[in-house]
Amino acid sequence: MKIAVIGTGYVGLVTSTCLAESGNEVVGIDKDAAKIAVIESGRLPIYEPGLLELVQRNRREQRLSFTTDLAAGVRQAELVFIAVGTPQSASGAADLSNLWAVGDAMAQHLPRRCIVVIKSTVPVGTNADLAGRLEKKAGRPMDVASNPEFLKEGAAVDDFMKPDRVVVGVRQAEVGERLRELYAPFLRTENPFLIMSPESAEMTKYVANAMLATKISFINEMANLCEKFGADINDVRRGIGHDARIGFPFLFPGAGYGGSCFPKDISALIHLAQQKQARVELLQAVDRVNTAQKQVLVEKIRRHYGPALKDKCLAIWGLAFKPRTDDIREAPALALIDALLAQGACLRVHDPEAIANVRALYGDRMVYCDRPYGAVEGADGLAIVTEWQEFRHPDFDVMRRLMREHVIFDGRNLYEPKTVLGHGFKYYAIGRLIDKESVASATRDPLSRDVLSRDPLSRDAIS
Ligand SMILES: NC(=O)c1ccc[n+]([C@@H]2O[C@H](COP(=O)([O-])OP(=O)(O)OC[C@H]3O[C@@H](n4cnc5c(N)ncnc54)[C@H](O)[C@@H]3O)[C@@H](O)[C@H]2O)c1
Repeated sequence: MKIAVIGTGYVGLVTSTCLAESGNEVVGIDKDAAKIAVIESGRLPIYEPGLLELVQRNRREQRLSFTTDLAAGVRQAELVFIAVGTPQSASGAADLSNLWAVGDAMAQHLPRRCIVVIKSTVPVGTNADLAGRLEKKAGRPMDVASNPEFLKEGAAVDDFMKPDRVVVGVRQAEVGERLRELYAPFLRTENPFLIMSPESAEMTKYVANAMLATKISFINEMANLCEKFGADINDVRRGIGHDARIGFPFLFPGAGYGGSCFPKDISALIHLAQQKQARVELLQAVDRVNTAQKQVLVEKIRRHYGPALKDKCLAIWGLAFKPRTDDIREAPALALIDALLAQGACLRVHDPEAIANVRALYGDRMVYCDRPYGAVEGADGLAIVTEWQEFRHPDFDVMRRLMREHVIFDGRNLYEPKTVLGHGFKYYAIGRLIDKESVASATRDPLSRDVLSRDPLSRDAIS
């Protein structure tokens, strides 16, 4: 099929590339000329594992091209996917200005029998509104379908290629069948292709994100309770996760959720509900718990050092909102950085992919380090905010030698308390039991030290 994908961000670039990979002829369109220039120079404007090779191959084989010219890009298309950003506006509602701009600019250039598909996350009713708007501009009715995207940054290519389900919202059965044909190569393992109304499809995306955000805020609140009562959330998590009704996914406590989706989508759903005078107390609580959770590491740091952080230098590992991405939108690390800078602390930060994005926000207000051990050099403490794989087995002996004070504030519960304590660190985690007894047993038990010194990963990392 001939396809146009508007927006070459995290969703649009993955969508256009994966659709080209399955044999379609795809043009990716973006108003940001710098992004298109980067792609055309053989690089990517974002970090997403596995994507660069796919873009390069499909460009080489001439199934994938890019342009800033919207009219030319859509003129031949049988399917036009809209994957532009729908950020949070000042009121909390989704800001649809990008979507309307695209609709207005392309209406008169869309070929007959072309289907417009909204992939961006949009409030319920947006498909209907866009259909009305296009019809008015173009002077004829247009097919508009909803096809919400469920990919996860960091695993986006895999998620698109092997979706656990595809959801489409359509008014006409033929439109659904056309989209079923498009997605057939990605659903060869019989995962479902679900057809529903555009309103239900739009709602499905918000409900999915609301459920996931609720799980995170729930376990974070329980972790905070565990700390009050001397229980360990890791044991509790195991204790509940084996119940098939509960399960393990998304029940890891941490420093709060961030990213370009959960915070703005929860806010948009709350706003939608309020428009209909509906009560959404649970959603509001999820949001409040998350805002508070982003301050939990700050509080632990303040409690440890006292209010004066002026002469303290803190290292931060992990700036992206999650591992395997360079995306820092609403990242919990930013809340921590803001609070610590406001207290006068000096910061040495490291992230495998997100440093350039953070530097663009904070300039020379912090020291940016290419390597994790560089960040802890001379530091009075280390805060871990994102669970990158490479932070899981550091060489604590090397860190001890490099750091001025030996304290770790672990916002992702990466380590066994006994191991960290056994290496002579003070350790703060989220909802973990770090009592006198575990300190004592850590100093008696040399096991953790032996395991770490045999770990080839940490050896490599130091050299
Ligand atoms: N990022 C995710 O993990 C994810 C997952 C599922 C759904 N979504 C949804 O998908 C949508 C896109 O998200 P994203 O993270 O890819 O956003 P993004 O900010 O990375 O990319 C959006 C792109 O759209 C382009 N754009 C904006 N207005 C345009 C216009 N008028 N013409 C052409 N291009 C235009 C921007 O320049 C940008 O490159 C959002 O609605 C988001 O909620 C995102």
